[in-house]
Amino acid sequence: MDTTLTQATAGPAGGLTLPAGFRWGVATAAYQIEGAAAEDGRTPSIWDTYSHTPGRVDGGHTGDVACDHYHRMPGDVALIKSLGLDTYRFSVSWPRVQPGGSGAVNARGLDFYSRLVDELLANEIDPWITLYHWDLPQELEDAGGWPHRDTAHRFADYAELVFDRLGDRVDNWTTLNEPWCTAMLGYAYGRQAPGHQDFPAGIRAVHHLLLGHGLATQRLRASATAAGREVRLGITLNLGTAHPATDTPQDRDAARRADGLNSRLYLDPLLRGSYPVDVVEDLDRRGAGLPVQEGDLEVIRTPIDVLGVNYYTGWLLSHVGENGSTVGADGAPVTREVGRGRPVTAMGWEIVPECFTELLVRLSRDYPGVPLVITENGAAFPDEPAADGSVPDPERTAYLEAHIRAVSDAVEQGADVRGYFVWSLLDNFEWSYGYDKRFGIIRVDYDTQERTPKDSAHWLRDLVSTWRQAN
Ligand code: NOJ
Repeated sequence: MDTTLTQATAGPAGGLTLPAGFRWGVATAAYQIEGAAAEDGRTPSIWDTYSHTPGRVDGGHTGDVACDHYHRMPGDVALIKSLGLDTYRFSVSWPRVQPGGSGAVNARGLDFYSRLVDELLANEIDPWITLYHWDLPQELEDAGGWPHRDTAHRFADYAELVFDRLGDRVDNWTTLNEPWCTAMLGYAYGRQAPGHQDFPAGIRAVHHLLLGHGLATQRLRASATAAGREVRLGITLNLGTAHPATDTPQDRDAARRADGLNSRLYLDPLLRGSYPVDVVEDLDRRGAGLPVQEGDLEVIRTPIDVLGVNYYTGWLLSHVGENGSTVGADGAPVTREVGRGRPVTAMGWEIVPECFTELLVRLSRDYPGVPLVITENGAAFPDEPAADGSVPDPERTAYLEAHIRAVSDAVEQGADVRGYFVWSLLDNFEWSYGYDKRFGIIRVDYDTQERTPKDSAHWLRDLVSTWRQAN
């Protein structure tokens, strides 16, 4: 990809410094939009089990129907096309294409993704596949899930079988989406599926997710090479900045711990081939060892072509809990996120675009040589349709504009960023928050499944088209 810096000159894209060939896209994930949970041979994932467990998801919502994308796919692709975007990042549902998580493929499930890829290509939209966006087949969870080493091997098998069917047409492959969420929210803190509260299990999951990523990357690379295909392989991490709430050594250490557990625990093994020593020491003190076996780190550091960055906010950390204590119930030092008093989104996440710039510059400085693509950025706001049928969402537009500018600032400061995908194409199932948190640039009326582009979608369309004309 050409990385010559170019300046857009006019309109809403005025003054953006982004490399030529910069990708503009939108992102979704299978369980959040597809519905058709029991169709064409799909078996349950941990998210079906979790969402059907009373008390787990706000409002008792499930992904059974979601945006019914499984039946409305061509219309949704047409919407992406109407916005003039060049890339669509979506995920493949593992239990749809390999029911139970091992063994034979389910041709009907794979057919859906094959049709989706063809539909995208026919509309000149580049498909960008995420292989794992959190919907582990329930059978694999019953066999131990990500804390169990075998799951890493099952994931590599699954990655290869998806590539076997779609690799002739798809150039961009992301192994895992946000392994921190899978490991920590899923296994350590119990806030997402499968809902366990077992910190050491969460840390075992971290290692097996990273191992699964490395094994899958090797298999995809080998398959692509054998087929004479040039592909771009990578992983997506949820990253942010971690700053101390005050300049005390204790808060500085809280920021170090947060940065370690959220970011460096993934970045260092992936891009440097070793786990960060300070984080390993913290984990050892908590009785949570990484189950590293000989050769694992070599596998995990298998070269990637792109690092996907999901950014929503930057964190400010205090070492004091809400109750004034500096030690948590589990005996570990408190690392608590506190507010700066800046405006927040409907998720309660502070809007701090300057932290986005800082993050991207830091990534390119500390982990040079890996191009970055923003695989998610966006915001939930409680927007409602107006009387004339339009959906005004000025806060979302302001959020997107500030963050796209933040990317441009980062590029000016040396960050190697090659693309930006909005989360999300559609309002969708926001995991444990259900359908009430709306991230879409297109509104979904869940009673009728009607889609209405919000004002932010029109704004994005104009920005991209102006930028393209100027470049
Ligand atoms: C991260 C996840 O990848 C996505 O699934 C989620 O909906 C958004 N961020 C917003 O929370």
